[in-house]
Amino acid sequence: MMKAVRYHDYGSPVVLCYEDAPTPEPGPREVRVHVHAAGVNPADRQIRAGLRFRLEKPFAFIPGCEVSGIVEKRGAEVTDLAVGDEVYGMLGKFGGGYAEFVVEAGDKLGRKPASLEHVQAAALPVAALTAWDALFEVGGLAAGQQVLIHAAGGGVGHIAVQLAKWRGAQVIGTASAGNEAFLRELGVDTFINYRTTAFESVAREVDVVIDAIPREADDATDVLARETMARSWAVLKDGGIQVSICANPTPHPDAVARGLRGAYAGAQPDNDVLNRVAELVDEGKLRPDVGTILPLREARRAHELIQTGHTRGKIVLQVSGSRGEASR
Ligand SMILES: NC(=O)c1ccc[n+]([C@@H]2O[C@H](COP(=O)([O-])OP(=O)(O)OC[C@H]3O[C@@H](n4cnc5c(N)ncnc54)[C@H](OP(=O)(O)O)[C@@H]3O)[C@@H](O)[C@H]2O)c1
Repeated sequence: MMKAVRYHDYGSPVVLCYEDAPTPEPGPREVRVHVHAAGVNPADRQIRAGLRFRLEKPFAFIPGCEVSGIVEKRGAEVTDLAVGDEVYGMLGKFGGGYAEFVVEAGDKLGRKPASLEHVQAAALPVAALTAWDALFEVGGLAAGQQVLIHAAGGGVGHIAVQLAKWRGAQVIGTASAGNEAFLRELGVDTFINYRTTAFESVAREVDVVIDAIPREADDATDVLARETMARSWAVLKDGGIQVSICANPTPHPDAVARGLRGAYAGAQPDNDVLNRVAELVDEGKLRPDVGTILPLREARRAHELIQTGHTRGKIVLQVSGSRGEASR
């Protein structure tokens, strides 16, 4: 048996229980990872609240869709990873990460950036895969272009800022005042406090808009997110694109007439991108910000925090050694 956080019914964070669970066995193409740290994502709480992926009852579900750890056992057909390898990645089944051990297909995991501790590496997979897809695969962002990133201080946003700068783009980022110094340090060229300044009074001739404003935190955030999406068409250049990682942006008729496009982007497990991201980290071009580290047994607190929609960077659960106290 292993220690894990599970829930047996949907509900508020109190359904999260730190308890014993069976240690999973890897299939022929899977590895078992000794989890050192697990990233916390809005999706974890959305699934827990019954808002996404209805699970067939009865269930004992282990949340957590990204981890960093060490390969501890491998299936017979896995050849490119060995026991003892340090890996990080997004979990294809959107669960399993809040546990001492998890199994995952060997070809979905990336090599952990050597320069990061596990608690930092666990903050990267979902944010980096999402930002990469939104900026480059869907948004087509190129050097010299201008990108407006809404919610630039969040888990996905702060990684998107750094990837856009690495690509050679001019970056405009929206956040509240408390995140200004943080975002300027990450390289944001123009900071907009969305609480005091209408972004369209500052941003103009933008090639790509990225919408990373968290949804379902509260009604006010949802309303503002919808309004922000509707207002964002005005700042785009003719032919520009609005990419959302939360909803499907549908351009209104005037926007269509200007050749504007809207698209959804999302994370998929992809070890090629993760290995490229690890190189960028080790070259000093990308760094995750972990705003909060909590021991695994405090997953409830992590869900209360992510639910606010106003945390900076990422929240990470420290798993290995968490039967005692996690360090900060
Ligand atoms: N499609 C996918 O595959 C995918 C993957 C990951 C995440 N997502 C979704 O993307 C969203 C963001 O995820 P995340 O992990 O980055 O969330 P997060 O870390 O919880 O985002 C928090 C950030 O959002 C900012 N924010 C809130 N309202 C804002 C507003 N109106 N304007 C500008 N910034 C605002 C906050 O800034 P202040 O504190 O300064 O207000 C805070 O820094 C979530 O809805 C998540 O479910 C989708």
